[in-house]
Amino acid sequence: MSLSERDVAGIRVFVGQRDELAAAVCDVILAVIRGKPDATLMFPTGATPEPVYADLVSQHRRRPTAGPDPSWRGARCFNLDEYWRLPPWSAASYAHFMRVHLYDWVNVSPENVFGPDALAPTEADACAAYERQIADCGGIDHAFLGIGVDGHIAFNEAGLPRSGTHVIDLAPSTIEANRIHFPGPDEIMPTKAITAGIDTILGSRCITLLATGTRKAQAVRGALLAPIGEGCPASFLREVPERCVFYLDADAASLLV
Ligand code: GLP
Repeated sequence: MSLSERDVAGIRVFVGQRDELAAAVCDVILAVIRGKPDATLMFPTGATPEPVYADLVSQHRRRPTAGPDPSWRGARCFNLDEYWRLPPWSAASYAHFMRVHLYDWVNVSPENVFGPDALAPTEADACAAYERQIADCGGIDHAFLGIGVDGHIAFNEAGLPRSGTHVIDLAPSTIEANRIHFPGPDEIMPTKAITAGIDTILGSRCITLLATGTRKAQAVRGALLAPIGEGCPASFLREVPERCVFYLDADAASLLV
């Protein structure tokens, strides 16, 4: 593996090829589960993490007879966010995405899969339930994050005050970027989402952010070099540099000068 390592603003940053990054992040997640079989893990959706999920699934299926190493049976898995009022059986839901890309392929127990309940009676009910589930699991051991083009993490959009889990109006740039997941004429894309908040994420014991492509270069620069603040939500990660590691390809890292 030929990832190069550097320190940017106190955060460890690894730069390499996409397949190497996926393998490295896969190893990080498996090491967390090996070290703590009932670890609590947070997972993002999006195109960026798909190679990581493919690696996690292939690692899991490599040992069908000897038993998986590690076993996911005790791991608690939280989806970071969900479109508000989109049912979990919708093909565009994040609940569906995570089942298809990861949960259906490893031996995670269904009762250990959690996510924001986009169909809860009220926003307040949904947010309180999600935070309570995290607390009941003893907090998050590892949060795996992607990053949006405007520097958002999960669905914490730029310009909004930081908080715990909350329901937000999606930014026009996010609606534009994610519209591709609602291709049919009858599939109306929600304009709101429920998301683990910045404070929820910063409470994690360990945080891994993966970004690839030139499209993410400005957001990555904002996260690591812009003033810390809601202008670039990912910049809040610099409040916990010792718990945070970035994995970038050369394109995403291209503006870190
Ligand atoms: C959505 C998700 C984020 C994700 C982002 C980037 O907005 N809520 O968690 O990081 O998309 O997705 P992609 O990796 O497809 O660029």
